[in-house]
Amino acid sequence: MLEKKETILTGDRPTGKMHIGHYFGSLQNRVKLQNEYDTYIEVADVQALTDNFNNPQKVKESVLQIVLDELSVGINPNKATIFIQSMIPEIAELTVFYSNLVTVSRLERNPTVKTEIAQKRELFGESVTYGFLGYPVSQAADITAFNGTLVPVGEDQLPLIEQCREIVRKFNSIYGETLYEPEAKLSNNKRIKGLDGNEKMGKSLGNAIYLSDSENIVKEKVMGALTDPARIRKDDKGHPEICMVAYYHNLFSSQDEVKNVCSECKAGTRGCVACKKQLINAINNYLNPIREKRKYYEEREDEVKEILMEGTNKARKIAKQTMERVKKAMMLDY
Ligand code: TRP
Repeated sequence: MLEKKETILTGDRPTGKMHIGHYFGSLQNRVKLQNEYDTYIEVADVQALTDNFNNPQKVKESVLQIVLDELSVGINPNKATIFIQSMIPEIAELTVFYSNLVTVSRLERNPTVKTEIAQKRELFGESVTYGFLGYPVSQAADITAFNGTLVPVGEDQLPLIEQCREIVRKFNSIYGETLYEPEAKLSNNKRIKGLDGNEKMGKSLGNAIYLSDSENIVKEKVMGALTDPARIRKDDKGHPEICMVAYYHNLFSSQDEVKNVCSECKAGTRGCVACKKQLINAINNYLNPIREKRKYYEEREDEVKEILMEGTNKARKIAKQTMERVKKAMMLDY
């Protein structure tokens, strides 16, 4: 067996700015993990193109935004390596090698891929592209190129990690122990609901609060958030369990404040507007240090690009070493 030193490998598709759902779902966890493990964070621009091939501009612009989001929440470039997928050709090369080890029907059965294809009917029509169907293979290359052993993900990504593990096992059984088999590290953080009460906060759903939203935008969004629809007058008794304002108080306010908010709402002694104003303050207080850091980096775009290039150079060295091992195992070491 290969000697195992835990390495975190994680990635994001650059298709827009990150919102508080990303923050509570994964970013917050990454900031912690970077102190405990060797951490690699991939800006997965090649993967983003699998469903945005007709919009390269969006992907390009989002790369910088994603890096700004990472840095502003506290990813420390001295601890974590942030790099860009398209600048590591070894990932593409590995993808080709791995594609022999996975069947088309296995990819078609991948639950994550299946769901996504169904959601992207408009883009793919009746027949999905080869590239999109195959992105789990490319993601297996993302992970193994850097010897990733722990992949912090939400539940929706589990089938991708499982597929990566299968590819690694198949590779190792045919060509000899060469690749590290990763494990998913399920974040216990829950998925954050949208401002409209939708189970998912998402760009396309228009129900998100972005980490880069200004104080005024946060105010506007919270004022429009879903509250108990049965509550018409201020002294109607409320139901915080179905109110998104109460839900977000749970994330941004102290336990005492949450208790107060809920009991006053239930008693009909607190109006929704007051409750929303208090939440707006809490969210803005929470986001202010993140906004400040973002501003620092926004004013120093060259520094951000340098961080990304340095990270990419460092990551590429590891990928080259992996490629050497892989080519040797596959008898391609000419
Ligand atoms: N598929 C992931 C997502 O949509 C992004 C991603 C790309 C990724 N490469 C990765 C995640 C490698 C973990 C490991 O969020």
